[in-house]
Amino acid sequence: MALSSIPEQGCRAVADGRVLLARVDGEVVAYVNSCLHRGSAMDTGVVREGTLTCPAHLWRYRLTDGACLNGPGRLQPVPAAVVDGDVEVTPPAGDPDLATTLRERLLAHARAWERDL
Ligand code: FES
Repeated sequence: MALSSIPEQGCRAVADGRVLLARVDGEVVAYVNSCLHRGSAMDTGVVREGTLTCPAHLWRYRLTDGACLNGPGRLQPVPAAVVDGDVEVTPPAGDPDLATTLRERLLAHARAWERDL
């Protein structure tokens, strides 16, 4: 994703929506796109003054370190680098949620659903 496509007051999802990208003080930060509250995706949340507000129930996170401002815990960081104006992310290899694509997860869900009939 081009660095310029990440708004100063917003964020973007990459890697099939599993990783959240935002800019803070000119730097790119990347976290697993899952709220600590109930796991909602947060890429449509509001970014303001260095914080991200989850769109589901308004929990807030400090973007510099992912710390939750509503309680303990912090977002899981994802390695990210800017190369020739593009942001490259490296999802953690050991995280099963990040190791599979959205397609793979939907197929697994569909297979489990068929077994339940
Ligand atoms: S899921 Fe994010 S605040 Fe509830």
